[in-house]
Amino acid sequence: MKKKDVLCTGKAKSVYYTDDDKKLILHFRNDTSAFDGEKIEKLARKGEVNNKFNAFIMQKLEEAGIPTHFEELISDEESLVKKLDMFPIECVVRNIAAGSLCKRLGVEEGIEVSPPIFEFFLKDDALHDPMINEYHIQSFGWAKPEDVVAMQELTFKVNTVLKKLFADCGLLLVDYKLEFGRFGDQIVLGDEFTPDGCRLWDAETRKKLDKDRFRQGLGGVVEAYEEVASRLGVKLS
Ligand SMILES: Nc1ncnc2c1ncn2[C@@H]1O[C@H](COP(=O)(O)OP(=O)(O)OP(=O)(O)O)[C@@H](O)[C@H]1O
Ligand SMILES: [Mg+2]
Repeated sequence: MKKKDVLCTGKAKSVYYTDDDKKLILHFRNDTSAFDGEKIEKLARKGEVNNKFNAFIMQKLEEAGIPTHFEELISDEESLVKKLDMFPIECVVRNIAAGSLCKRLGVEEGIEVSPPIFEFFLKDDALHDPMINEYHIQSFGWAKPEDVVAMQELTFKVNTVLKKLFADCGLLLVDYKLEFGRFGDQIVLGDEFTPDGCRLWDAETRKKLDKDRFRQGLGGVVEAYEEVASRLGVKLS
């Protein structure tokens, strides 16, 4: 597979065309950003850890019947994926209150929410990714009603699969963000599932093992990602 021109450079990944017009290469860089790109740092090894973490999770989701864009690992920091027509939407599920939910609603961090909460956000850094609902999505044509239903169903299915996967290695899946796209007539999970886009706490100590370590300046960011990877059995070099 030949790497061609860059399609886009995001805050953490660069996306390249390939000689197959249905496939892209995702390059997971060491760049780490928070607060809509206000805080940016390069963290050694993060690209490789996230690339391999994502590959592991996407394969687990495929095995559970969730269609994903993941095709194969092609280097330490790169994966081959299906080229999706991405929806400009983020799908979030929360099992435990944390982050913006606590700020917005004044609820205490750490309380379990039952049933889990589903939220949509508009992918727009300039607007700070505002929260939206099904009406905004339909009225502004960001996705069709049936796509909205499919994204919600798939996002909850991911919760069932991953809550158990993480629980089995002593971790709490606090919340996570997913991005979907269209591949032909199928709705497919795209982007990434890594500790950059979810919250994971040690089940006993509630130690944070995700990007909140970076946001809150707690240190040991990549070390925490590597600990989660090692508990899951992700092979790193
Ligand atoms: N399979 C795919 N096909 C097409 N685009 C994809 C695919 N997977 C991910 N992308 C897009 O590639 C970009 C990845 O870069 P990155 O995650 O670094 O972006 P970002 O800075 O977070 O910006 P964004 O706010 O757009 O996510 C994202 O815009 C994402 O939606
Ligand atoms: Mg992103």
